[in-house]
Amino acid sequence: MFDLVAIGNPVYDIIKTPFVESLGRVLSGCSVNAAITAKKLGMKKVALVGCIGEDFERRFMREMESRNIQLMIVKRSKETTGFKLKYLDFSGNRELEVLGLSEGISRGDIPEGVFNTKAVVVGPVIGEVEVDVPAAFKSRGVTVFLDPQGYLREISEGVIQHCSNPMALEACCESHVVKPNMLEAKLLSGFDEPIKAAISIHERTGAMVAVTLAEKGSVIVYGRRAIIVPAYPTHPVDPTGAGDVYLGAFAYYLHKGLGAEEAASYASAIASIKVENIAGHFDISLDEVARRALWIRSRVKIKRLR
Ligand SMILES: Nc1ncnc2c1ncn2[C@@H]1O[C@H](COP(=O)(O)OP(=O)(O)OP(=O)(O)O)[C@@H](O)[C@H]1O
Ligand SMILES: [Mg+2]
Repeated sequence: MFDLVAIGNPVYDIIKTPFVESLGRVLSGCSVNAAITAKKLGMKKVALVGCIGEDFERRFMREMESRNIQLMIVKRSKETTGFKLKYLDFSGNRELEVLGLSEGISRGDIPEGVFNTKAVVVGPVIGEVEVDVPAAFKSRGVTVFLDPQGYLREISEGVIQHCSNPMALEACCESHVVKPNMLEAKLLSGFDEPIKAAISIHERTGAMVAVTLAEKGSVIVYGRRAIIVPAYPTHPVDPTGAGDVYLGAFAYYLHKGLGAEEAASYASAIASIKVENIAGHFDISLDEVARRALWIRSRVKIKRLR
């Protein structure tokens, strides 16, 4: 049995921020970053399901093998998904130019053995995971973690634009934990204010909702509580994948049996280390994670909701 399966296409990105620039295309993607994070933290059996092109297939296999992540490539494509990310600042002002696009993944593509898992992270980058995928896992009693970002994007003239899409809310309804960032939460709910947005998504889907707010931290709404989690103050050089890392860590710690406050404090701690590094490639010192998580946990606020 797997501890965690991450579903969504791997990407090879070019990243350029005001502080750092990648050397060519580097491995990223929500599923990949979440799987690598859970593995780094000590999760035992982790698998990744996605489609890859001939151009990056061998490199990708090596990168997954070296991290001891089991790979299920469901379709081979001509090209690998990838974006050229250019950050103008770290307040959501980033451009994503499409470098390549791989095939999509539907329920019928997924090998039967993959359903034998405790948890699944569904993390499409550009709508490539059909909504019947989270639904199939949920119906088998698997805990479904969803990053809806890929359902809220479209390609227009070679660049990514954000857009609302009924598929996103449908996928949220098939999930137990949903992690949009603020822009995505607004597209899902219509609200600008994070707690209002999270309440609205929670009421419409029944899922635990964690809205991430970059350097402003995150807000989690579940039942009658809003948990307000600060970010750990640091100097970011590249925020790419911070949300993916947060989600992978949140899944890991909830799975370990921690409460949402503790799990989110750890997730926020690890994500703060991520932003100090380029792409998803960074070492985690578990002592440093614990130190930051303690600092964050002591500043968590709980708001009772009516
Ligand atoms: N500048 C920062 N300083 C400290 N922590 C940060 C910073 N930026 C992000 N984080 C941490 O990472 C979490 C997720 O960040 P963010 O809201 O930017 O995700 P995202 O937009 O989904 O990112 P991506 O889609 O690139 O993975 C935040 O809730 C916070 O805990
Ligand atoms: Mg995100």
